[in-house]
Amino acid sequence: MNVEKRINKRKKSFNPNLFNPICRIRIYIYTFATFLILYLLSLIFVIHQNRYFMATKINHIGFVLKQIQNKEVVEESKIIYNVGLNSDYGDDSSITKFVNNKISFYNLSYIPNNLVGISSDYIEDIKWNQTLRNEANLALQQLAKDFFDTFWEKIILVSAYRSYDYQVWIKIRWCNDMFCAKPWFSEHQTGLAVDLWEASTKEQFLSNSKLVSYFKWMQENAYKYGFHNTYQKWIEIDWYVVEPWHWRYLGIDLAKYLYDNNITFAEYYKNSK
Ligand code: DAL
Ligand code: ZN
Repeated sequence: MNVEKRINKRKKSFNPNLFNPICRIRIYIYTFATFLILYLLSLIFVIHQNRYFMATKINHIGFVLKQIQNKEVVEESKIIYNVGLNSDYGDDSSITKFVNNKISFYNLSYIPNNLVGISSDYIEDIKWNQTLRNEANLALQQLAKDFFDTFWEKIILVSAYRSYDYQVWIKIRWCNDMFCAKPWFSEHQTGLAVDLWEASTKEQFLSNSKLVSYFKWMQENAYKYGFHNTYQKWIEIDWYVVEPWHWRYLGIDLAKYLYDNNITFAEYYKNSK
């Protein structure tokens, strides 16, 4: 079929003549379909917004209830997990504040008061405008510079400070409690924790030879700058699955102590109580 014939055929198949009943029906159908698609898109948008709103509310209600039950929960945790009261684990703003699945901040909406932007020649912030507490940022800058001198690569910063609301948003995507902390319970809310390089699981992370060499370097050197790999011994000990990408600033003294004794932050607290 030549081009002219094809064009004619198309013209015949859709001749926008309102007096032609078939054409009119088609126009109705197209118009209806367009409105239906617009309606469905706005419906999806509204449901999504509502879900976010509801999840935030449910979280708030859940945590208020939890605050009321706090005493019982902590008493129960003490027996099961050998953990103490929240107050045993440092003030919210303490560099060594401990949080895990059962130990939260005192203040639901705790926000560190010295958050700074992370701009550096040696760090690639993939989200552009992430922040950290000043002391963690300075230590990370130094670490990243020395990392660069070794590998000639920038450190990829995937996640840093995360607010309570941001963690709510993460949990809305139904991330399991063993992978993602509940809002109010995440080390990222301290403004002292970072996720370096992207991976969903330990296996995925360690199947990449480049990341393995970076991780080995971090294992041997991060403590010198005050960083500790919080989740390295699985749920029974660290309360979360193994996360080779998650590093917490604890200050050089404690990070070195954990390194020298080959224990994690959770073990340190468990043993010291
Ligand atoms: N993935 C760690 C446990 C967090 O969400 O804080
Ligand atoms: Zn993390």
